[in-house]
Amino acid sequence: MLLPLPSFLSEIKNTLKGGRQAPACPVAAAPAPGARPLPRPAPRSPARAPRAFKPARCFRGRGLRRKRSRHFRRRERPAPMAGCCRLGRASLPRRGLHTAARLCKARSGAEHQWLTRHLKDPFVKAARVESYRCRSAFKLLELDARHRILRPGLRVLDCGAAPGAWSQVAVRRVNAAGADPSSPVGFVLGLDLLHIAPLGGATFLCPADVADPGTWQRVRELLPGGRADVILSDMAPNATGIRGLDHDQLIGLCLSLLDVAPHVLSPGGTFLCKTWAGSLSHRLQKRLTEEFQGTRTLKPEASRKESSEVYLLATQYRRAAGPGRA
Ligand SMILES: C[S@@+](CC[C@H](N)C(=O)[O-])C[C@H]1O[C@@H](n2cnc3c(N)ncnc32)[C@H](O)[C@@H]1O
Repeated sequence: MLLPLPSFLSEIKNTLKGGRQAPACPVAAAPAPGARPLPRPAPRSPARAPRAFKPARCFRGRGLRRKRSRHFRRRERPAPMAGCCRLGRASLPRRGLHTAARLCKARSGAEHQWLTRHLKDPFVKAARVESYRCRSAFKLLELDARHRILRPGLRVLDCGAAPGAWSQVAVRRVNAAGADPSSPVGFVLGLDLLHIAPLGGATFLCPADVADPGTWQRVRELLPGGRADVILSDMAPNATGIRGLDHDQLIGLCLSLLDVAPHVLSPGGTFLCKTWAGSLSHRLQKRLTEEFQGTRTLKPEASRKESSEVYLLATQYRRAAGPGRA
């Protein structure tokens, strides 16, 4: 059943068009009324002013790893900036991401395109306004609003959970933090290769690799009753840039989840996974059709049009291993 466009999507559009303006960048946002302004560094004397900033060919930290020449080290040694996240020599809290990005003049065309698109993206802005850890929260919010995947009391396993935006959505929807005393309390377990910052109502297993059998033993120990009602996977392998290879790897990850599903997913359960369309998609589709009663291919609005990313939603799981086989 296709439900009407969730209201939050229209809200995001309205918000970002006119009404409530999202701050362009949290670090560059105007201070709240009554708040003390951030202390500004004292101006340097002209004699001690550093040479013009010459950023590394970088974005996303690559420049930080650049080997600095002796000349660079001697003349351009940055002043200590405790508590600041640095991009090249631009301090983000002081300048804001926009300025910092502008300073990386030598970045490549592709990096420039990525950054410009990211900074203009309405879902990135909305994620900041709504305090989601990343824009992908809106994908799950939309899929859930249209297909009613999550409800209070369900046990959710979130695979590839870092930085935790899907888990944030899941915690609210299944009432995992017990915020609604009149509804059953659910459970959210997230796992990832990467560290995930703690989140009230969620349990995180990290670092954990879905390809490691030890991970599944821990997952079964942590899940109440040893099973989940919903398996979510927004996993994505580190992209090599070789489309076919990235596709094969992602399909491999999704298939490996289906291999363990008999031991982890409850009969009648739901499976939602991200894939990149490609030559092996039919294999995954076939497995899902065999093992679930219903499957559909979905492309939420927050998923970029130019991306081959699609989500497969499979409902009413038919298989489950007996307790002896788990
Ligand atoms: C697109 S991010 C997920 C974003 C997440 N859904 C959110 O909303 O915050 C993909 C994640 O998959 C994780 N991942 C990739 N391969 C994995 C594996 N073999 N095991 C566990 N996690 C994996 C990556 O570390 C990455 O954090």
